[in-house]
Amino acid sequence: MSTYPVVDIPTLLQISPQGGIDGRSRRYEKYIGDMEGVYRDNAAWESAVGEHGADHLVYWVDDHRYQEGSGALITGTSTLLPGRYGDEFAMTRGHLHAIADRAELYYCLSGRGVMLLETLDGQSSAIELTPGQAVNVPGHWLHRSVNVGDEPFTTLFCYAADAGQDYAVIADAGGMKNLVVADGEGWMLRPNPDHTGYRAFDAD
Ligand SMILES: [Fe+2]
Repeated sequence: MSTYPVVDIPTLLQISPQGGIDGRSRRYEKYIGDMEGVYRDNAAWESAVGEHGADHLVYWVDDHRYQEGSGALITGTSTLLPGRYGDEFAMTRGHLHAIADRAELYYCLSGRGVMLLETLDGQSSAIELTPGQAVNVPGHWLHRSVNVGDEPFTTLFCYAADAGQDYAVIADAGGMKNLVVADGEGWMLRPNPDHTGYRAFDAD
């Protein structure tokens, strides 16, 4: 029996600034039909589904993973296509890590976006990202990418392999506390009138 721990093989990952990894473990795609209930302007979402079809691509992710343990990292790219639903910009579903203290790095490779960040007890932050800029997202912060530009917004991300994702925490709260909406040529935050507060914080 070996006295050495099992180790994984270091792997070269070729990363495209427009998204995509040669050497990925998997790719998944999100379609506009998957985004029901995400945007507060449901009529605008329904209109977009009618116009483009439910199988219209809205974002896609490549990732690389080598083991499930707490010491391993998942590295990937996320590419979020531009769009508007009423005055809300195109965004990802957003999540809290299922193991909530797990942190995550997001580094902008291309495009212009906003990382929208909130805690269960009501703190919020929104950080604009352009190529070369990164956000080191601490544990316990819900996070969502928003594309506020006209081109695809691509980030490189890296987080602990055991973190997992809790998407329901946002859906159960009627969406995140803040919306990222158009403001002239730019963007602004607007309180989400449907937000009810996060359940995990209400529970104690
Ligand atoms: Fe995450």
